[in-house]
Amino acid sequence: MKKIIVIPGDGIGKEITDSAVAVLKKVDEKFNIGLEFEYRDAGGASYDKYGEPLTAETLEACKAADAVLFGAVGGPKWDNIEVSKRPEKALFGLRKGLGLYGNLRPVKIYDALIDGSPLKPEIVAGSDILIVRELVGGIYFGERCESEFVDGVERAWDTEIYSVPEIERIVKLGFESAQKRRKKLTSVDKANVLASSRLWRRVVKEMAKNYPDVELNLMYVDNCAAQLAINPKQFDVIVTSNMFGDILSDEFAAIGGSLGLLPSASIGELTSFFESISGSAPDIAGKNIANPIGCILSAAMLLRFSLKEEKAAHAVEMAVDKTLADGFRTAEIYKDGLKKCSTTEMTQAIVDRI
Ligand code: IPM
Ligand code: MG
Repeated sequence: MKKIIVIPGDGIGKEITDSAVAVLKKVDEKFNIGLEFEYRDAGGASYDKYGEPLTAETLEACKAADAVLFGAVGGPKWDNIEVSKRPEKALFGLRKGLGLYGNLRPVKIYDALIDGSPLKPEIVAGSDILIVRELVGGIYFGERCESEFVDGVERAWDTEIYSVPEIERIVKLGFESAQKRRKKLTSVDKANVLASSRLWRRVVKEMAKNYPDVELNLMYVDNCAAQLAINPKQFDVIVTSNMFGDILSDEFAAIGGSLGLLPSASIGELTSFFESISGSAPDIAGKNIANPIGCILSAAMLLRFSLKEEKAAHAVEMAVDKTLADGFRTAEIYKDGLKKCSTTEMTQAIVDRI
C-alpha cells in the first residue's frame, strides 16, 4: 500500500483536498495502485485543537508516508495570535522538517482559458513555464528581529543568507528540469544590489559548464517581472530564491487567469509534498465554489513524482483538459455560454473523464 497523508488545513483546504482525494480514488480503482489515506490537521485547524499549528506527531506521520497532499492554511480568525503560532508556521515546519528545498510550480496556459488571462491572447498563448523556487533558505529562514529600539527609534529586520551547497542543490534541480523540457534556464536574482544574489550568480555560472545542452540566461528579478508581462513565451524553466520565487509565481499564476488552477510539488530529502498554490481563500471557504483544479493537478504531480505512476498522472491531466474543453467552469473563471459549476460538480466532471 502507498500511504498518503492528507492535510486539509483551513479555508477552502477541506473542499479542494476532498476533490483531489475523490480523483485519486478513481485513479486507484482504474490503475490498481493501492492507495491508503490518513488525515492530519495543520495550520489554524491544528492550533484550535492542539494549541500549535503543527504537532510533532503530524510531522512524524508525514516523514513516514509516501507523499503528503496539502490543502491550505491561514485565515483572519488567526490573524492576531502570537507569531510563532500562526498557521503559516505549519508550512514552514513541514518545509524544513521534510527538507523540501525545491518547489516546482508549473504554469501552463490552457487554450480553453486564454480569454481569462489579463494579457492579450497573442502574448500569452502557448506559454508554458516551470518555476523552480528554493524553499527552505533565504530571507524566509534567516535571522530576524520583530522589534528593537535603537536611539529611541523602533525598527525590525530580516536577513538573507545563502550558502554555496544550498544554491547548488536548487540550481541543479533547475538545470535538470530544463533538460527534461525545452532546455532553457533563466536564473533570477538581484545581483546588482544583493551580496547573496552575487554569490548565487557566480555559482550558477560555474555550474552551467556541466550543462552545455542547456541555454542559460541570467536575469534581474525586476526585469523578470516585466518580461513576464511583455513576453512570457521566452521562458521555459526559471530558478530563483525563496522570496523572488514566491512573488514571481503569483505573477505567473495571475497571467494564467486563476490562482486556483495551479499545482505545485515540493521535493527534497524526505517525503514530497503537493499543494495547489491558491491559498486558503477564507472569503469563499465552505461555499462549494472554490476551484479544485489546482489541488487535483497537485495530486497528478504526486502520482508522477512520489509514486512513479506516470500513466495515472497523465490520465488526471487529460481529464482536467477535457473537462475545461467541455466548458465546465467554477465561478471565478466562468464566462457566458459555458457550464457554471460548483466545486463538487467540477470534481465529478473530472472523475467521470478519467
Ligand atoms: C506560498 C505562500 C506561502 C509562502 C505563505 C502562505 C507563507 O505564499 O506558498 O507561496 O510565502 O511561501
Ligand atoms: Mg506565495
